[in-house]
Amino acid sequence: MNNCDLQVAYPGEECTLEQNEEYFHLVTAKGRERFRLHEYGRVYDVPGLYEEVVYNKLQCDSPNVITGLLKESMQRNDENDVPLRVLDFGAGNGIVGECLQDAVETETIVGVDIIDEAKKALERDRPDVYDDYYVMDLSDIDEPTKKELDRYNFNALVTVAALGFGDIPTKAFVNAFNLIEDSSWVVFNIKDRFFSEEDETGYNETLQKMIGNSLKVIKKHRYCHRLSMAGEPLHYYAVVGRKETDF
Ligand SMILES: C[S@@+](CC[C@H](N)C(=O)[O-])C[C@H]1O[C@@H](n2cnc3c(N)ncnc32)[C@H](O)[C@@H]1O
Repeated sequence: MNNCDLQVAYPGEECTLEQNEEYFHLVTAKGRERFRLHEYGRVYDVPGLYEEVVYNKLQCDSPNVITGLLKESMQRNDENDVPLRVLDFGAGNGIVGECLQDAVETETIVGVDIIDEAKKALERDRPDVYDDYYVMDLSDIDEPTKKELDRYNFNALVTVAALGFGDIPTKAFVNAFNLIEDSSWVVFNIKDRFFSEEDETGYNETLQKMIGNSLKVIKKHRYCHRLSMAGEPLHYYAVVGRKETDF
C-alpha cells in the first residue's frame, strides 16, 4: 500500500545513526512531526507511512526475499503443494502475510505481534490476509495460550525484520520455535552482525546452539535488507531451515 499524499522529510547523507535510532519527519499542515523508524506503534497509526518510508524510500525487499527463498526451498524438496500453516512472528501490519499468500500455498496464516497498533493497522489495511492475529508477548507464554496456539499445528515459522535491536528477544523466538511441529519450515532474517562473533544481542549464541541441536539450515544468504537513511546498504542474513526438534 503506497500513500503518495504523505509528505516525508528525510535526514541527509550525514545521518550515521544506528538503525534503531534513525528518524524522519512527517510534514503536515500542522507542522513537522518527528518519528523514530522503530517507533512502530506511532508509524503504523498513520496509514501508508510504514510502506512509504521502509519500502519506497529505503527500498526494503525482505518480505519478498524471505518468502521467495521459502518458495524456492519448497520447490527443490518437491513440497510446493504442501499447504503451510504459518506462524508469522513479529507480523507488524501484515506485509509478510501478503507476500506469503502470493509465494506459497497457505492453509492458515496466524500473526503475532507485541503491539496493538500493529493489529489495528492490519485490520485497517489488510483485513483479509491473516486467519488470526494475536497481540501478545511470547517471551512469557502461559499454558492456556500455548494450548490455543498448538491447535493450529503450525508447520512454518516466519519472522521478518523483527529479531535483535530490542525487538523480539531470544527467549520469545525460542518459544515460537517450540510452538511449531517437528520438520516445520523455519524462515527468518537477521542483521549480519547479530549472526556473527560481534553479536551483542545473544542471537548468535542461541542460533549456533539451535543449529547444533534443533535446526537444520538449508540456506543462509547475505543480502541487502534495506538502505540506511544515508543510502548505505544494510546487510542481513536470510535463513531457511527445517526444525528437527524442540530447543
Ligand atoms: C520492522 S517491523 C517488521 C514487521 C513485519 N515483519 C514486516 O516485515 O513488515 C518489527 C515488528 O516486530 C514487532 N515486535 C517487536 N518486539 C516484539 C516482540 N517481543 N514480540 C512480537 N513482536 C515484536 C514490532 O511491534 C514490529 O511490528
